[in-house]
Amino acid sequence: MKQKECLLLAVALGMGLSLAACGGEGGGGEGPIVAPPPAPAEWADKHMPAGWWTDAAKLEEGRKLYAGETNPDVNCGSCHGKDGKPTKAGARDFRVTDRMKLYSDSVWAWRIAEGVPNTKMKAWKSKLSEDDTWKLVLYEASYGLPGKGWDAATKSWVDAASVVAVPAVVPAAPDSTGK
Ligand code: HEC
Repeated sequence: MKQKECLLLAVALGMGLSLAACGGEGGGGEGPIVAPPPAPAEWADKHMPAGWWTDAAKLEEGRKLYAGETNPDVNCGSCHGKDGKPTKAGARDFRVTDRMKLYSDSVWAWRIAEGVPNTKMKAWKSKLSEDDTWKLVLYEASYGLPGKGWDAATKSWVDAASVVAVPAVVPAAPDSTGK
C-alpha cells in the first residue's frame, strides 16, 4: 500500500474510534455533551421557588410525580427510569452531571413544560401546574446534582443551602417626570 493511502486509512479508522467513544459510557448513548439552547423569555427569569432546594417534602412530591404515583398520566420514570437510568433510547440520563450542570433550572423547567420538538419528550404543561414542574426539576436535579441548587445571581450550581432567592421581577416604577 502506498504511504498516502495508508495514512488516509489510519485517519479514517481513528475517526471511527473517536465516534464510537462519543456514544460510549457517561453520555449514556445520548451523543456529545453540549449546552442546551437558552430558555425563551417566558421562562428565562423563572427560578425554583424560594427555599425549595432544601425542602425535603417538595423533593418527595417531585419523586411521586416523576414515578407516576401522583398522576398515572404523568410518568417520567417510564422513559427516564425509576432510578434515573433511562429505559427508553434517547431519554435524558439525569445522572450525567457533566451534562445536567450545563442546564439552568429555568431551562429544565421550560423543557418539561414545552417538551423537545421532534423527540419523544412531549410538552407536559397541560398536565402539570408550574409548581409541579418545579418539583420535578428539584427531583431530577437530585440525580446528577445532589445537594446542589441553581444560583441565579452567579448563574451556577452551588450548595443548595447557599442559594439566595432572587426577588420576583417587579415592574419598573412609573416615570415620575409625568411624561
Ligand atoms: C415517552 C418517553 C418520555 C417521557 C414519558 C418523558 N420523557 Fe423526558 N425526555 C425523553 C426524551 C427522548 C428526551 C430527549 C430529548 C432530546 O433528544 O433532546 C427527554 C428529555 C428530557 C429533558 C431534557 C431536555 C433537554 O433539553 O435536554 C428533561 C428535563 C426531561 N426529559 C424531563 C422529563 C420529565 C420531568 C418527564 C415527566 C413529566 C419526562 N421527561 C417524561 C423522553 C421522555
